[in-house]
Amino acid sequence: MAEQNYQQKKIDMESDAELSKELKRKKRMKLIAYFAAFAIFQTIVILVFSLTVMRIKNPKFRVRSVTVDDLTFTSTPNSPSFKMSFNAEVGVKNTNFGHFKFENTTISFDYRGIQVGEAFVAKGRAKARSTKKMTVIVELNSNNIIPANSNLGSDISSGFLTLTSHSKLNGKVHLTKIIKKKKAAQMDCTMTINLESGAIQDINCK
Ligand SMILES: *[C@@H]1O[C@H](CO)[C@@H](O)[C@H](O)[C@H]1NC(C)=O
Repeated sequence: MAEQNYQQKKIDMESDAELSKELKRKKRMKLIAYFAAFAIFQTIVILVFSLTVMRIKNPKFRVRSVTVDDLTFTSTPNSPSFKMSFNAEVGVKNTNFGHFKFENTTISFDYRGIQVGEAFVAKGRAKARSTKKMTVIVELNSNNIIPANSNLGSDISSGFLTLTSHSKLNGKVHLTKIIKKKKAAQMDCTMTINLESGAIQDINCK
């Protein structure tokens, strides 16, 4: 009785061995499939990450709005001139996944390529994926313009003056404590002063 049991057991064990070999093969195939899927998944994650989070772009620096406080002008033929002061709201738009820390800078306001005023922008930071707004006070005057060589008289007579503003904001985008990248935000805006209404209109920035 005991001998018979033993024989039976032996046969069972042999077929068990066959079965487990097959199972092992299946298991191995499954493992390879999992590994391949994982590798593909990792590649996609890295690709998406490097195309979004790790891709650091230059922030944008713009004049958002202007409130005129004071404006005087004259179009007398021999000495046309203007003088104005205004508050400008400027914005640093940072689309990166890390904050942008920037240095002090100045914004130059020009009339037909000649500087007529300047504004100081103190260093600061624009948070990740947000726009930092700041107000700057600007004083403009036409003292640098030689009336005889300019269109100032006719521009003032037309009732509109076109100004441009230029600036460069140097700084660094901080993705993490270690990953930082130097970036600069360039300002290049055009705006029109409506002398009659005393307002600045049509602010366009590149
Ligand atoms: C930035 O401007 C502040 C004044 O607001 C000044 O104290 C500081 O020295 C300036 N920093 C640099 C690096 O020029």
